[in-house]
Amino acid sequence: MMLAIPDVLSAVEVTRVRAIIDAADWVDGNATSGGQSALAKHNVQLPEASAAAREAGDIVLDALGRTPLFVAAALPLRVYPPLFNRYGIGHAFGTHVDNAIRIRRGSDFRIRTDLSATLFLADPDSYDGGELVVEDRPGIKLPAGHMLLYPASTLHRVEPVTRGQRIASFFWVQSMIRSGDDRATLFELDTAIQSLAAERGQGDPDIIRLTNVYHNLLRRSAEL
Ligand code: NI
Repeated sequence: MMLAIPDVLSAVEVTRVRAIIDAADWVDGNATSGGQSALAKHNVQLPEASAAAREAGDIVLDALGRTPLFVAAALPLRVYPPLFNRYGIGHAFGTHVDNAIRIRRGSDFRIRTDLSATLFLADPDSYDGGELVVEDRPGIKLPAGHMLLYPASTLHRVEPVTRGQRIASFFWVQSMIRSGDDRATLFELDTAIQSLAAERGQGDPDIIRLTNVYHNLLRRSAEL
């Protein structure tokens, strides 16, 4: 499932995050890549352990926690501390694979990457190119503060930037529901229940029964 989630960060938060990261020191993006991606990757990144990455990452993590659409769609168990990258003119990231397991250096944090996320941090009018292309779908470029969630199992790439700078946060999510199909079905059920509840009210007896079904299915398949 691919999902664009609007307004994960407000305009004020985008400005705050940009102020933090724009003032920081960036390094070659291959600092975090395996051998195969290193061949395809041409960008710069904030060092993972830098104070700026942590401070800006915490703003992103707080925002995710209060974004119901993210929680409902991803059913997150763990979120990798957000990373930040920047593509200037001529930068691109060719077709690549995201590693199945990410281990954070110098810590015991490890994650199975079920979902990949890109949170856009630059106004799309401020740069050309830089679309995120997932498999053979049309390239995607979202407004600043919006986020694309997509299966980490896909081949994907970032098109070359030809004007301006594409700036984004990216990270991975391990879901409580390992199967993408099961996760999508739960999300569909949840979405239908929320839509019915908006019409009938949360106290409607059938909504309560359906909510019970949702939680029983979640209880059956969640891994914690
Ligand atoms: Ni990737």
